[in-house]
Amino acid sequence: MIKYWGKENQELIIPMNNSLSLTLDAFYTETTVTFSEELKEDHFYLDNQLQDPKATLKVSRFLDLVRQKADCSLYATVKSQNFVPTAAGLASSASGLAALAGATSAALNLDLSPEELSRLARRGSGSACRSIYGGFAEWQKGTSDETSYAVEIPSNDFENELSMLFVVVNDAQKDISSRDGMQRTVETSAFYDGWLQTVPQDLQKAKQAIAEKNFIALGEVTEASALKMHGTTLAANPPFTYWSAESMQAMNLVRQIRTAGIPCYFTMDAGPNVKILVERKNEAKVQAALAEHFDSQQLILAHAGPKIEILSKEDA
Ligand code: ADP
Ligand code: DP6
Ligand code: CO
Repeated sequence: MIKYWGKENQELIIPMNNSLSLTLDAFYTETTVTFSEELKEDHFYLDNQLQDPKATLKVSRFLDLVRQKADCSLYATVKSQNFVPTAAGLASSASGLAALAGATSAALNLDLSPEELSRLARRGSGSACRSIYGGFAEWQKGTSDETSYAVEIPSNDFENELSMLFVVVNDAQKDISSRDGMQRTVETSAFYDGWLQTVPQDLQKAKQAIAEKNFIALGEVTEASALKMHGTTLAANPPFTYWSAESMQAMNLVRQIRTAGIPCYFTMDAGPNVKILVERKNEAKVQAALAEHFDSQQLILAHAGPKIEILSKEDA
């Protein structure tokens, strides 16, 4: 709802600004991590496909952090299933790295508190530090590895009154990863300072809206945060955008539906897909309006989702 966009420390993944997210039920990841004395290197399978050395190295680097914590030198086989398109701006890194953090720490019997797990997930992908929780979470940027982690936001179940309608206009992998896109923006965009300046007040508005269960206030600030974040990319060097013609079409439809009297607001992450925030009582109307312009397979309805779960654990 309030975007994370830019790092102060690339290696530790300390962000430039606090951010706020809502965990959803529709998109998720299941990951199994098995350490074994038989292995001579790490193996990484994503969606049943053995991954190439580059993708495997990213996972190995993350495993190294956990191995270090647990004083373990064994290699592992990681098998992950994304029930979310990978690298399409639908938060696969938040889902996937939260799952990897949970599974790896469970496999090595690290009994981490939510705060410690959030810090660990952060090292894999910043957005993952929020996604270990259900409902609303705020990533408090902190100033160091110890102080940068997410916390749950008390909401009195407001999230259960909300729906998020996904308009999946393209589920292919994006050309510019979130990591590269935000780094280029921080380093070169003339608009980046403008982005940073308004985040604290936007975050304050979002938290107040959640506390008061004020849907319109939450929707307005959510949409504004997304537009400002995407605005920064246009002034980067070289300039870029995650938007496509269909993203614009979906955003315009949201504005039209709103003018017709149904409150709904859009947000987008680092990709062309549009997410529409609407009150649950109005979800069918918004879905019907979008269905006039997009195929039914492109429209996915989501609601608030639960925190990370350890599904099973076998002690070797
Ligand atoms: P997204 O918008 O989907 O979050 P990002 O550019 O932030 O896209 O991150 C995509 C990257 O996240 C992938 O290239 C991969 O490195 C990592 N990733 C996604 N899913 C998983 C997973 N299940 N396990 C491990 N890494 C994953
Ligand atoms: C636009 O968490 O994917 O979705 O920390 O480099 O892995 P890394 O980036 P990532 O960035 C997500 C950016 C965003 C906004 C958000 O999720 O808050
Ligand atoms: Co991501």
